[in-house]
Amino acid sequence: MKFAIADPPYLGLAVKFYGDMHPDAAVFDTIDGHRELVERLERDYDGWAMFLHQQSLRHILPLCPPGARVMSWVKPWCSFKPTVRVAYAWEPIIVNGGRPFEGREQDTERDWISANMTMGVGFQGAKPPKVVRWLLRVLNARPDDHIDDLFPGSGNVSRTIEDWRARREPRQLQLIAEGDE
Ligand SMILES: C[S@@+](CC[C@H](N)C(=O)[O-])C[C@H]1O[C@@H](n2cnc3c(N)ncnc32)[C@H](O)[C@@H]1O
Repeated sequence: MKFAIADPPYLGLAVKFYGDMHPDAAVFDTIDGHRELVERLERDYDGWAMFLHQQSLRHILPLCPPGARVMSWVKPWCSFKPTVRVAYAWEPIIVNGGRPFEGREQDTERDWISANMTMGVGFQGAKPPKVVRWLLRVLNARPDDHIDDLFPGSGNVSRTIEDWRARREPRQLQLIAEGDE
């Protein structure tokens, strides 16, 4: 089967965080950019997971198919900003499709995960291996599936998929920061 993990720039933050890295970052400051991404995910994949932030959930969820689920990545440790009274301590992740569940033969996954925000990678928005591995379980992916990391950034998602395929423990984030291959 063919799966995708999509971690696009968050709506409204694309140029701010990635404008100097990607010439077309501004696309993701528009609803149409996210609509095209959802259409691509639906067209090209059997299952997908897409990161977004709470502030864009109300805009992006209506673009998704009716069966799409909103998962929650809860962050016990996250950055507290002096101007924000109630911290944004969880992020939604929209998931659609995936391999059908094989019932009692398989463990049931929760629709949330608890994992601290990524630190020490030197890349804004890098995702923790724990969250990526959980998404692979949620999608019911298998190591021989085709899995695309559509927005590689630091490479954390791709590295985690490689390690998972090879049944290795996730590599340390500090090593990734040092450019370890
Ligand atoms: C949220 S980050 C991805 C972080 C990555 N998942 C990780 O764990 O490090 C989004 C990425 O999308 C890239 N990007 C920005 N605009 C893009 C565009 N129009 N097309 C493709 N990639 C884009 C950014 O440069 C950035 O690397």
